[in-house]
Amino acid sequence: MGKLKAAITSVGGYVPETKLTNFDLEKMVDTNDEWIRTRTGIEERRILKEPGKGSSDMAIMAIQEILRKKNMDPSEIDCVVCATVTPDMVFPATANIICDKIGATNAWGFDLSAACSGFLYALTTGAMYIESGRYKKVIVVGVDKMSAIIDYTDRATCIIFGDGAGAVLLEPSTDENGILDSILKSDGSGRQYLHMKAGGSVKPATIETVMAKEHYAFQDGQPVFKFAVKGMADVSAELLERNGLTGEEIAWLVPHQANLRIIDATANRMGLPREKVMINIQKYGNTTAATIPLCLWDWEKQLKKGDNIVLAAFGGGFTWGATWVKWGYDGEA
Ligand code: UT7
Repeated sequence: MGKLKAAITSVGGYVPETKLTNFDLEKMVDTNDEWIRTRTGIEERRILKEPGKGSSDMAIMAIQEILRKKNMDPSEIDCVVCATVTPDMVFPATANIICDKIGATNAWGFDLSAACSGFLYALTTGAMYIESGRYKKVIVVGVDKMSAIIDYTDRATCIIFGDGAGAVLLEPSTDENGILDSILKSDGSGRQYLHMKAGGSVKPATIETVMAKEHYAFQDGQPVFKFAVKGMADVSAELLERNGLTGEEIAWLVPHQANLRIIDATANRMGLPREKVMINIQKYGNTTAATIPLCLWDWEKQLKKGDNIVLAAFGGGFTWGATWVKWGYDGEA
């Protein structure tokens, strides 16, 4: 018997109903629809407006969709890995809160912080729990309520980010399909370009940090852009080469949705036409850890058993990576 593999056997997603369009942003900061569309590809994003709601509330909507589709009881879940940089609280972990809210009474779980690469880090981690034979049902969820950490007077960041959640169920594969390879990377020296200045143990919250707006996401966009273009394209090419794959054999590229120009650069490097690239940045913006599972959610019906899919991301940290998945089921089934 070959090595045990983890397969994605279901997908769920959730985006809040409230839309924040480029035209809305025109009224809030010195920007315009044309600039945002041509520089990023974004037209609108979703915002979780309800007071008292956080990342866990979006995550549970995505996970409950999976439970419905699979006719599964929450008590069957063994483990929840939650990728987020906008946890409900600093502690306890959002995974913990999710398990409580969905009634996953037999599950344990934890949060994983890798910004926009969070879903790939979490998927690779979750897959290893299945591959080891230890667990049978692992939920991997990518969720971020970016609106909680965005300064809506800062045009450099507020035009980019949105809120959302996407989740997958991992189970032992019964055939040759599953998560087949992953290359993950990090370089902490990149933190200077994308981070939150206060609220951690180095600079705890004070009145001064609040007044100085240091609890919002800070981004120096241009260097991040340069590293992202190279990082995401290089790691995707490396993944193909290591597995002897060519662009023709890839059915879909599922890129992190940060900027349409970064997505195009990665697709070109892999020799993939636009038709093979999942792009939903125009309607959700950059939802950080949720972008990749939200693409899988939007495209689920079109996916076919055995499809070669490459997931690729680059984000804060820096963190980046690419994962090769052979899709486990027919979307229409
Ligand atoms: O998701 C995780 C990682 N994040 C990313 O991958 C994001 C990477 N970075 C980017 O996507 C891009 O850098 C941005 C979309 C953030 C910015 O685009 P850019 O093409 O790098 O713009 P820029 O910062 O170089 O600014 C170009 C010009 C500047 O004006 P001048 O100096 O040329 O007169 C900016 O002041 O555009 C101006 N500008 C804006 N104008 C209208 C910057 N932001 C805006 C805005 N609206 N929102």
